[in-house]
Amino acid sequence: MPAQKESAPVRPVPFTPRPVPLSATLAVNEAIARRRREGRRVLPLGFGEAGIPIHPALTRELAAAAGRGGYGPVAGSAALRAAAAGYWTRRGLPTDPSAVVAGPGSKPLLYALLTAIGGDVVVPAPSWVSYAAQASLAGAEPIRVATPPGEGGVPSPALLADAVVRARARGREVRAVVVTLPDNPTGTIASEETVKRMCSVARRHGLVVISDEIYRDLVHEPGRTVPSPARHAPERTVVTTALSKSLAAGGWRLGVARLPDGPFGRALRDSLLGVASEIWSSAPAPMQQAAAYAFAEPPELAEHVDRSRRLHAAVAGAVADRFAAAGAKVVRPEAAFYLYPDFGPLRETLREAHGVRTAADLTNLLLERYGVGVLPGSSFGDAPSALRMRVAPSLLYGEDDEHRLAALASPEPERLPWVADSLDYLSDVLADLSASVTAAEPAGV
Ligand SMILES: Cc1ncc(COP(=O)(O)O)c(C=O)c1O
Repeated sequence: MPAQKESAPVRPVPFTPRPVPLSATLAVNEAIARRRREGRRVLPLGFGEAGIPIHPALTRELAAAAGRGGYGPVAGSAALRAAAAGYWTRRGLPTDPSAVVAGPGSKPLLYALLTAIGGDVVVPAPSWVSYAAQASLAGAEPIRVATPPGEGGVPSPALLADAVVRARARGREVRAVVVTLPDNPTGTIASEETVKRMCSVARRHGLVVISDEIYRDLVHEPGRTVPSPARHAPERTVVTTALSKSLAAGGWRLGVARLPDGPFGRALRDSLLGVASEIWSSAPAPMQQAAAYAFAEPPELAEHVDRSRRLHAAVAGAVADRFAAAGAKVVRPEAAFYLYPDFGPLRETLREAHGVRTAADLTNLLLERYGVGVLPGSSFGDAPSALRMRVAPSLLYGEDDEHRLAALASPEPERLPWVADSLDYLSDVLADLSASVTAAEPAGV
């Protein structure tokens, strides 16, 4: 090859990384930690962590497996896959262990699924922060479709059909829809009828359904079941779950996916394993052993999950009451540890007293003035002007394991002094917001 002339022009390449913002949930967590270090009062309602201690039986299993240093199969160990298959089978979704793929958390599994499926993806509006962010990272377009009123996590079926037709008409290749059952951010559960209708739209338009069921075991009302698309469109539904929420093991990083039966499911599994093999090789081996134990649902863990379900229900309900008393509109949470109040009824007064025009204005005000960390609905794909926010009360259970265990054991955790103190501070903050509104109003109004 001839040597290049020294004078040949060299195209300058910017020496900057591709900007990828920190996930909104992690960012609010950091802001709260900073304020706490400065010795200022905080009310951490931003981060979606379960807030309960790891059960000692689970710790024992993990410790016993610490010597497992090998990689193991990409799909996960036979023991874990069999246990996860049993977990789903007990929930009315008969599963063969060969249909299970494990990963280091359900978040990377979801990203690998988007990559393996390819094409654009419909996400509910609002929905968990990472679906749209992951779709963009994977080079896909997240298409946001509103959920029916009062039913979070599943795009409204009629709007879904319309959005797919319109996106395809402009040349987009829409291949999947993500749903969250039960839902984060709203803490609600879509109805069986909505799930059924969403599944018919998915079938008619050839969409894969990714059903994120990480909160399935945290339904507040005992005995209430969660409608899974895997029952209504089994040939095209992938279900994901993890230990992060029901067993509060988010930091341990272990999730599982249940692939559909049939030729499409097998082909998708092969692609998913291809992606997994290039990114994480295998889920951490000691964690897989602990997870195999957890998915077998021994009575001590089932009892632990049941208590945490009751704790989440009591505190989320009490927090919802405080927001409702302050004049916000709030759908009563039905599952998990989230609620999604709407300050629309106070829009005019918040604008006049505080210049609040967007959800981010309101959540910034709450953080800066009162140390209350919540996330604006806009982080979840809601319209910026909608004055909605996601509130996650699970970090109120206590700052150490002693308090958290007491909260877990209490029949009325909302009355424990440290929980009640936080609830009262929340009421004071919300009252102060409207008190400054009252002060700003003309006399006599
Ligand atoms: C709806 C939803 N899916 C998935 C995840 C991620 O879970 P994992 O810890 O399994 O990656 C979260 C965590 O906040 C979540 O809220």
